[in-house]
Amino acid sequence: MLQMLGAGVSLPGIVAAKCGAHVILSDSAEIPLCLENSRRCCELNDLPGVPVVGLTWGEISPELRSLPPVDIILGSDVFYEPEDFEDVLVTLSFLLKRNPSGQFWTTFQERSSDWTIETLLNKWNLQCTDVPLDIFHANKKHLAGSTLPGNCSIQMMIVTARTKM
Ligand SMILES: C[S@@+](CC[C@H](N)C(=O)[O-])C[C@H]1O[C@@H](n2cnc3c(N)ncnc32)[C@H](O)[C@@H]1O
Repeated sequence: MLQMLGAGVSLPGIVAAKCGAHVILSDSAEIPLCLENSRRCCELNDLPGVPVVGLTWGEISPELRSLPPVDIILGSDVFYEPEDFEDVLVTLSFLLKRNPSGQFWTTFQERSSDWTIETLLNKWNLQCTDVPLDIFHANKKHLAGSTLPGNCSIQMMIVTARTKM
């Protein structure tokens, strides 16, 4: 089971669903337009059965509590506003406590070298491993016919629950 946070247009979740994964998409419960957008993207991609739920980062809501067990949590570009970083990690910490072997796969654009989540990872008992983009040939200015990566510094990491030493 794959859970996507801050799904927006939902591209990674849609690709995963197309590859056969059981996917649940989510975006802020406070932005119904984004939830509607995710639903539309699923319909347009012939995936009417993919559930879209409102999950606001940092809120331990009934919707978050009633999610089924998840193996992988996806977050594409959810670390873009430092004031939200802790809320994202609160949601993650909750999910990884309930799913101890779960992993959070996230990519983000490094918008400032001053921003870091290291202290927050420690606070919420999480740890991360960097994933170099070159291992899947994604460290390029042009990708899949798009010039979007350009000169942006894109990073990927996998966050898991901290293992006891
Ligand atoms: C930069 S966009 C990334 C969208 C998509 N994942 C992508 O890569 O194209 C950030 C997404 O996070 C969602 N978001 C912003 N604040 C949120 C919050 N507090 N809780 C949950 N989702 C939030 C936005 O609605 C938006 O869809």
